[in-house]
Amino acid sequence: MKTKTLFTVFLLVSMSFTTRFTLAQLPKETETQKAERMKWWTDARFGMFIHWGLYALPARHEWVKNAERMTNEQYHKYFDVFNPDMWDPHEWAKMAKAAGMKYVVLTAKHHEGFCMFDSRFTDYKATNTPYGKDIVKEYVEAFRAEGLKVGFYYSLLDWHHPDYTIDSNHPQRQTSDSAYIRLNKGRNMSKYREYIKNQVRELLTNYGEISIIWFDFSFPGKNGKGHDDWDSENLLKMARSLQPGIIVDDRLDLDNVEGGWDFTTPEQVQVSKWPEVNGKRVPWETCQTFSGSWGYYRDENTWKSPAQLLELLIESVSKGGNLLLNVGPTARGVFDSRAQDRLKAMGEWMKFNNRSIYGCTEAPAGFSAPSNTLLTYNPVTKRLYIHLLAYPMGSLTLSNMADKVKYVQFLNDASEIRFRAGSDEANNDLILSLPVQKPQVEIPVLEIYLK
Ligand code: GLC
Repeated sequence: MKTKTLFTVFLLVSMSFTTRFTLAQLPKETETQKAERMKWWTDARFGMFIHWGLYALPARHEWVKNAERMTNEQYHKYFDVFNPDMWDPHEWAKMAKAAGMKYVVLTAKHHEGFCMFDSRFTDYKATNTPYGKDIVKEYVEAFRAEGLKVGFYYSLLDWHHPDYTIDSNHPQRQTSDSAYIRLNKGRNMSKYREYIKNQVRELLTNYGEISIIWFDFSFPGKNGKGHDDWDSENLLKMARSLQPGIIVDDRLDLDNVEGGWDFTTPEQVQVSKWPEVNGKRVPWETCQTFSGSWGYYRDENTWKSPAQLLELLIESVSKGGNLLLNVGPTARGVFDSRAQDRLKAMGEWMKFNNRSIYGCTEAPAGFSAPSNTLLTYNPVTKRLYIHLLAYPMGSLTLSNMADKVKYVQFLNDASEIRFRAGSDEANNDLILSLPVQKPQVEIPVLEIYLK
């Protein structure tokens, strides 16, 4: 009896110790374990971002509520008519797959606060609109059926929630401290923090395996919000405990916390080199739009060409990164023709050239890209890929490569490319003989079998 009591006391003490301990830090993992956990993602290289919400209806940027400083009442008209009657998530999933994308991230909630899923913690959700169904559920099932890994974007900002305090990024932002104080009276961020936790718990519990969570975003400082406002560390701990394999972006304002993020997210920019933190290369993904907006923007016309988009993808891989390319579907639930055309063009290229993308990374030191080319490299097959952005006239010289090459072919049709050593042996040049006519692909790729 006595031993039993002692044992119970021991158990309780050690249990409370473990709880405190787990709360104190995020799960530890070695660099190899992290690389292993992220392997499918670093191999995949290409994913689809989907920004879809009420903002598809005004069709003039997903920040429209903010830009036009609309109140909840003014914005409500979109909620009242939201009904994507033509939506077929399977069609979307097929288009993503055909484009060569291996994973997908959908806005479960964007800054407007509208929830695409049937959350128990709000009425402001798809199931209460004329559409009436849980969009997230349909999305998850359709993309999974096509074999893509599924993820969620979740906005930390919320321009609808009554407890979310007005800040510098809010539609009702102010110019004086006293105005902020007056407006924020009665708003309670600790309730909002609970709300986020509850919703993230729902998203990571009710929809099966979720591979990515993309929190967006932090803006610490005066009238801003950062990790304390979101309770980022505990939010992340919860996410990791619910979905141990989950891959997390770096926008929770936990830059200096070990395990606080998995990859960095240069947005709408081309990085000049593989991003590093404390001198070490880190996993990264650039997110990019087809045109200047994430949400559907009817009158925006700065659409990138297929060649530019492919270059973005190849360029990312050539520096060891991923591309998350965004589609902003219309409020009818379709990808508009401009997006479809580009996805198709990318898919045509990927069909014949994906070997230079999947599982590839930056070429090892010592290989230098001839001008107007981008190099990628597959460390497993030890093949080097040269992407010809501008098609050369009859030949291409690779410096310091004559002793390294076993065989060369075009990737698109596996047709041999003959080569010879340059006349100056000291230069170790290799000269490739190329056909005068550019092969029928947007960006031709040379596949080089290295010795
Ligand atoms: C920005 C914007 C947002 C978009 C995101 C994508 O943070 O606020 O509208 O969702 O970038 O990375």
